[in-house]
Amino acid sequence: MTYASPEFTAQMKDYVAATEAALAQYTPMPVTRPAILHEAMRHSLAAGGKRLRPVLCLAAHALFPSAANPLPAAVALECLHTYSLIHDDLPCMDNSDLRRGQPTCHKKFGETTALLAGDALLTHAFFLLADAYHHTPPLVADLVRILGDAAGSQKLIGGQMEDIIGEHGEATPERLDYIHHNKTAALLSASITMGVRLSSAPQGAVEKAHKIGLKLGLAFQVIDDILDVTSNAATMGKPVNADAGNKKLTYPHLHGLKASREKAHSLTDEAVSLCHELGGDNAFLVALIRSMEHRIN
Ligand code: IPE
Ligand code: IPE
Ligand code: MG
Ligand code: MG
Ligand code: MG
Repeated sequence: MTYASPEFTAQMKDYVAATEAALAQYTPMPVTRPAILHEAMRHSLAAGGKRLRPVLCLAAHALFPSAANPLPAAVALECLHTYSLIHDDLPCMDNSDLRRGQPTCHKKFGETTALLAGDALLTHAFFLLADAYHHTPPLVADLVRILGDAAGSQKLIGGQMEDIIGEHGEATPERLDYIHHNKTAALLSASITMGVRLSSAPQGAVEKAHKIGLKLGLAFQVIDDILDVTSNAATMGKPVNADAGNKKLTYPHLHGLKASREKAHSLTDEAVSLCHELGGDNAFLVALIRSMEHRIN
């Protein structure tokens, strides 16, 4: 299966459709009191992202299928990711007006509601894990630990902090690596890791999944930085040339576009070979990793 094949496209469509149905099922209805808060949460969730983190979780679970339902974990990942985008777009952060082709949460609902919608999505992610898997306490403990670690002050938030510090600080390759690993790769890695933890994978697979995720996550952020320079807002559904405007420390800024593309390609190759080492029914996951290198948005 290649990422250009009809089998890949059909499987991707199925995973995205399953994710979107689960998002509607496992998050509060927009009319739930206070309606404005739940509308804001739904606005950002429903705006139409690529759903890569849930799909990675579902595809990782499918490597070694088990009876456990991966959909609540997939929804938890998308809730957490969407919260990070709402807060990332706030005027005090990247100050962005467009996200997923729609006005950002604070543009539509105001900063106060956007802040709270983000808080609520973050909290809901952990509630969902505890609620959906409560019959298997060790599973809840592991999933909460993996997600809490990836989302915390030494990973996602730490990366966001240094991303902001980096606007005025020293532009070193070491800092760039810290930012990319933590603000982005950590959650992508948690997505694969949680999927494998929910599966019937052999011992040691969770650690291997974590390594695959870091490689593909790093590649993902390098491509995001490239697309900010080379794409357009209509395709991306978010502003472009925003990184230079915000004086962000990015891969193209530090190393140029050619080296950035080479870096994304070699990281993708490394992720794919680790995926072959992990084994299981990995044709879709391998194609997905390749597709992420060639994405246009
Ligand atoms: C955007 O993530 C934020 C980054 C980590 C670069 P995505 O590119 O996955 O955004 P959506 O979910 O498709 O909107
Ligand atoms: C966002 O990185 C990472 C998180 C939200 C944690 P960016 O700031 O590069 O993402 P975009 O380009 O706004 O989507
Ligand atoms: Mg940012
Ligand atoms: Mg941003
Ligand atoms: Mg970006």
